[in-house]
This record gives sequence, C-alpha cells and structure tokens, in this order.
Amino acid sequence: MAKFIERVFSGVQPTGNLHLGNYLGAIVKFVELQSTHDCLYCVVDLHAITVPQKPEELRANIREVTAAYVAAGIDPKQHIVFNQSQVAEHAELAWVFNCVARVGWLSRMTQFKEKAGKDKENASVGLYAYPCLMAADILLYRATHVPVGEDQKQHLELARDIAQKFNLDFAESIAAHGHGDAFFPSPEPLIQGPATRVMSLRDGSKKMSKSDPSDYSRINLSDDADTIAQKIRKAKTDPEALPSEPAGLAHRPEADNLVGIYAALNGETKPEVLRAFGGGNFSAFKSALVDLSVAKLGPIGAEMKRLKDDVSYIDAVLADGAYRAKTIARENMAAVKDILGFVR
Ligand code: AMP
Ligand code: TRP
Repeated sequence: MAKFIERVFSGVQPTGNLHLGNYLGAIVKFVELQSTHDCLYCVVDLHAITVPQKPEELRANIREVTAAYVAAGIDPKQHIVFNQSQVAEHAELAWVFNCVARVGWLSRMTQFKEKAGKDKENASVGLYAYPCLMAADILLYRATHVPVGEDQKQHLELARDIAQKFNLDFAESIAAHGHGDAFFPSPEPLIQGPATRVMSLRDGSKKMSKSDPSDYSRINLSDDADTIAQKIRKAKTDPEALPSEPAGLAHRPEADNLVGIYAALNGETKPEVLRAFGGGNFSAFKSALVDLSVAKLGPIGAEMKRLKDDVSYIDAVLADGAYRAKTIARENMAAVKDILGFVR
C-alpha cells in the first residue's frame, strides 16, 4: 500500500453564530492536533453558498471564523489557515469528484435531506453535491486525518469512497505516473471525546445549531459572561439528582449533554465529572458549569472580537494561508490532471 505523510485538514462554514458545539466538536481538536501534525484549517465559504447568504454578512463571517481559529489558539504561522474560495483548485477537484461519485451515494446523505427539508426540488444543486466538494477539500491536500463533529461522519465515509473509487478507476494511470497503487489516502475521521455531538440547551433531542431560531439553545463564542451564565441557568434539565455513574444518564438527554459539556471543557471524562457531582442537584452543578464556561470561553470570545475588527491582520493571515495552501494544491491538481488524461 502507498504511504502518505500524515496531514490534518478540517473546515468550518462561515455562516454566523459560531457556538459551543463547533468549539468542542471541532475547534478544540484543531488546536490539539497542532503539536503532532501538519494542519490545514479552512474557512469553507464555497460550502456556505449552498444556501442563500447576504454578501456583507458572508464577508464578516469569513473573518469571524478566521478570528475564532486564531483566538482559540491555532497558530497561522506554524499551520495553514485559509479561505476556500481563494484556492480555486477546491472547485476544480470537486468537479472531478462529481464525476467519480454516484448519484445513489449522494442521495443517501442524511444532511441533505435535513437541510433541503420538504421542498427538495427547490434545493440548490450545490447543496446536493456538497459532499463531493468536502471530499475535494480534504483530498486536494491528500490529508489523512479529519477532526470533525459526529454530524460529519457520513460525509467522511463518502470522501473515503470517492478516494477508493478514484484509486481503482485510474489504477493503471496512477501507477504509470509513478504514484504506486493509490494516489489518494483514505482520510480518517477523528471523532472522539465527550462532546462530539453537543445538543441544544432547550431540547436534548436536537443538535446545537447555528440555525436554531432560539438563541437560548446555544452558547455562542461571542457571548459575554452574563449571557453565558443566563443561558446555562435557563438550560432545560429534569427533576432528578445527577447520577454517580454514566449509566444513570440514559434517557436523560439534557443531563447527559450538560455533563458532556462540562467534561469536554475541563478535559475530563463523563465518569470523572459524575464522581465529583453525582448525587448533587442541578443548581450546584450548573453554577460550576457557569464558572468553567466563563473561564474557558470568555477569553476566547474577547480575543475573537478584538481580532475580527483587525481586518488587515485577518486578511493578511488568509492571504498568506492561501498562498501556502495553493503550493500544495497546485501540485496535487497537476498530478490529478495527468492521471485523468488532461493535457496541461
Ligand atoms: P459547521 O458549522 O457546520 O461548519 O460545523 C463545523 C464543525 O463543527 C464540524 O466539524 C461539525 O461537525 C462541528 N459541529 C457543528 N455542530 C456541532 C455540535 N452541535 N456538536 C458537535 N460538533 C458540532
Ligand atoms: N461540511 C463541514 C460542516 O458543515 C465543513 C467542511 C467542509 C469540512 N469541508 C470540510 C469539514 C472538510 C472537514 C473537512 O461542518
């Protein structure tokens, strides 16, 4: 089997309301992986336009996600932080993958069904083809590891299927061009820890989401300490005391969610949190969760606000990142063209 250098790629959509789910499910992992891997972290604006966006808001949101990356501790000098639309090869490779993936594969994607809702005929073609663009994001850099929240698992499986089909369909040409038995790696999802699926604070059966109409359903990274405290105090719970073991969280989605959030913010496991708080009531636990959340998120939110307004710094980070990403992208795209039989 071909050997690939380990490389991390992930992305966040610039669609506003960055929240605790994005932070714990994705961004915290991005920060951790910096010490062990070469990483590329992308602001995926081509994904954002699969649903309508207001141009001025989109521009501000691209800068906000960039600011959040840096504020959370991603080092844009050591690693590559960039904006998808500034590297045209993403769209170019996505087209190739539109021709590799099968309609049947895409029609099984649950996120399309959720996002398109009842009026599927009226969804954009881009929303349907979106997983091919996501596969292109990752494979353009031949990335091997992809930290994401649980909701992206199915898209990652599709990216692996696309990589495998490309490697098989063009096996002869791949070998003839000196790439051995595979041009693309099978990218591995990194979905671990107590908060891979953070739920709404208002309804433990719904994912915490940017698009939930209730702002009380989520903690935004831009929320100040008072707002964070209020949202946690109002978070839905049940009348029982906290259990001492994780088994006691079964069928108690709201309690399970808050315990998972605490564990993730404090770098602990759920059993550890329950050992400390089991048997106690929610109000004591919620007070501790407020203190922890404010301590961890407050400084990030403040730094994010400061950086977001420093447009020339943010734009310089993105320009430098795009330049460095493009160096890798151009080379891999040229190889793909040779493999496919294009003349360049
Ligand atoms: P998005 O905002 O959809 O671009 O998501 C960016 C990253 O955050 C992806 O890796 C998602 O899987 C992750 N994510 C989004 N919502 C949640 C959530 N409620 N819990 C955990 N991870 C999430
Ligand atoms: N689809 C992801 C989301 O909605 C964002 C994304 C786009 C992504 N391209 C990616 C994540 C590549 C990981 C790798 O959250």
